[in-house]
Amino acid sequence: MFPSKVKILQRLPQLRHTFWCSTSFGKAACSRLVLGIETSCDDTGAAVLDERGAILGESLHSQKEVHLRTGGIIPTVAQQLHRENIEHVVQEALERSGVDPSHLSAVATTVKPGLALSLGIGLEFSQRFVRQHNRPFIPIHHMEAHALTVRMLHPVAFPFLVLLISGGHSLLAVARGVDDFLLLGHSLDEAPGDTLDKVARRLSLRKHPQCSTLSGGQAIELLAKNGDKKRFNFRTPMGQTPDCCFSFAGLRNDITITITKKEKEEGIEQGTLLSCVNDIAAATQHTVAAHLAKRTHRAILFCKANGLLPSSSPTLVVSGGVASNQYIRKALTVITESTGLHLLCPPAKFCTDNGVMIAWNGVERLREGKGILSPNIDVHYEPKAPLGVDMTAEVRAAAIRLPSVRIKISS
Ligand code: KG4
Ligand code: ZN
Repeated sequence: MFPSKVKILQRLPQLRHTFWCSTSFGKAACSRLVLGIETSCDDTGAAVLDERGAILGESLHSQKEVHLRTGGIIPTVAQQLHRENIEHVVQEALERSGVDPSHLSAVATTVKPGLALSLGIGLEFSQRFVRQHNRPFIPIHHMEAHALTVRMLHPVAFPFLVLLISGGHSLLAVARGVDDFLLLGHSLDEAPGDTLDKVARRLSLRKHPQCSTLSGGQAIELLAKNGDKKRFNFRTPMGQTPDCCFSFAGLRNDITITITKKEKEEGIEQGTLLSCVNDIAAATQHTVAAHLAKRTHRAILFCKANGLLPSSSPTLVVSGGVASNQYIRKALTVITESTGLHLLCPPAKFCTDNGVMIAWNGVERLREGKGILSPNIDVHYEPKAPLGVDMTAEVRAAAIRLPSVRIKISS
């Protein structure tokens, strides 16, 4: 049934080479060094890591402020901001690390998936950089990087289940190796972060005194703390479809209809804050959490039925920008506790896009000798790039029914 046998690596790969390198702190025994560069969406990030995952230097320029003002990411604006910042961001990460480009073992850069114009800036810069300094190049899949970040922080062995939820993606996959994933489910329309951002915009949360600088997801989480999630009853999506795919567009439509209705009732124009904004935020967050939890629950049962996870200490890793939401984490904890899985979430700063996760993915590939290219090879970016072997049809065919689990969270 599966493309290849499930292989359980019980230990992390050992360091292969240790050599002397010089940093600003003098000479030190260190492992191979990787520069990571991220520009797939709206963050320009760079970091230098050693082979053990120590962050020697990093720099991140977020475009969030600009995109909040323009009401969403405009690709040409994102491209221009990456163009203006990439040189400085990479330079700053290198300076903070005290590492000279000649001491880098490789440069790893996100080349897929993402916004074409944004990916193009990172790739063009990186190809010039590796040619100038004659360094190997490692093209990185952005979702692979999100999935592997956890291994920089905890000794998590393959295979593990991973839920990636961000502004651009939602997917469930079994991570079997650095470049070996089984895709169990993905979003059929929009990603949960995108939905939260759009609902926040429709609610004009930028005008809320506590939310003006927050992303949509952060604003909804904050307001939901003082809201009554039961006041609005949004239907959890895809209740009749027994697979692990996600859909958020219908939910967003339901929420928009409710907002419009409440505006009429309160006699206010679109663009004015509703009095029930906290309750809408709470109900939205709860429904998104319930949908994510149910699909994850089915993925766990599918993995168990097919022996895809180790019997001892099976792990669910949750990452991506939306994974920093504490309510969603609690909903997932209910599922992992009821199914005997261990839940791991990287801290928020590693859940959102950054150069560190790309450098770490480079380290993982370097250790395994996978996908390391000579600097002169031309690489192309890919705006769309599925992760791993598509198992969604098998998951749907299994039609696993979920036992009822009460997701009761006091927020
Ligand atoms: O991973 P990320 O930094 O960028 C990509 O989309 O790849 O994720 C950004 C997304 C945004 O949609 C933002 O609203 C959402 O993550 N987000 C959150 C929270 N913090 C960020 N969503 C829910 N709760 C949060 N606390
Ligand atoms: Zn991301």
